[in-house]
Amino acid sequence: MARILVTRRLPDGGLGPLAGQDHEIVGPKDDDTPYSTDELCSHAARCDGIVSLLTDRIDAAVLDAGAGGGRLRVVANVAVGYDNIDVRAAHERGIVVCNTPGVLDDTTADTAFLLILAAARLASTAEADLRDGHWHGWGVTQYLGHDVHGATLGIVGYGRIGRAVAARAEGFGMRVVHHARRPTGAAGFVADLDEVLSMSDIVSLHTPGGAETHHLVDARRLALMKPTAVLVNTARGTVVDEVALADALHGGRLFAAGLDVYEREPVIEPRLLSAPRTVLLPHIGSASQATRTRMATMATGAVVAVLAGETPANVVTPA
Ligand code: GLV
Repeated sequence: MARILVTRRLPDGGLGPLAGQDHEIVGPKDDDTPYSTDELCSHAARCDGIVSLLTDRIDAAVLDAGAGGGRLRVVANVAVGYDNIDVRAAHERGIVVCNTPGVLDDTTADTAFLLILAAARLASTAEADLRDGHWHGWGVTQYLGHDVHGATLGIVGYGRIGRAVAARAEGFGMRVVHHARRPTGAAGFVADLDEVLSMSDIVSLHTPGGAETHHLVDARRLALMKPTAVLVNTARGTVVDEVALADALHGGRLFAAGLDVYEREPVIEPRLLSAPRTVLLPHIGSASQATRTRMATMATGAVVAVLAGETPANVVTPA
């Protein structure tokens, strides 16, 4: 009988693929808080599979413990991103890593659009004023945002989610350009990221996280953006230098920002909290009931498949 660690509570139905299997499930904690590294190590040493979330740091120490215990064969992350897992270390120890591509693209693209609209049209600022009793009636000069229709949208990272955002933007009458590390062959490709940043009215980030994209949008690149521009990030917090972004917003060098992800989640850079015209969401990009259930069943299904000796389609390999 295999033992599978499920590190956090999953949406209803998320454990579906494990039903009828003769596997023992351990975790999550009663209060659904993340396991510490020590706790993950001690579970990894005794488990055959782990269903993890992006709040779990599955680093070389955890994978060493898994390899040392002689049982751990698979870690499946309930997320499309896997920058919380040392994929190379897993590969070197013969431990398969899986993620959840393809099932959250539209939901995450919807969230990106929510932030595009809310940030460009100052929805959070206006709502906060109303709730605080600071709105005393309609005024022709109040809450003047920038139009989304007719604007140039620069998409950075043109995988499935970036393309789903582009499809929505067409419907909103936007001009769409995109940048990716390699030519995409699609209309609107711009090889130079700096050019995309300087020509766009709204920039939406859709790259993976990790070392290669760390602070891709830094102070120098933020300075290339129009002072009327809006930056939206539903990718990973580490892609943007948050301190530089807060400086640009406080200094009026960038019009607005819409963020769903942060460099040190759940810690939020205090100067972002106080930044003007900034919409901040608590990493809800894929948070619809249907999508989160699909993600959970995809991850648990991958664990079942690997333990049955199969190779699921959603295996991640080191870059
Ligand atoms: C969420 O951020 C994910 O990577 O799925």
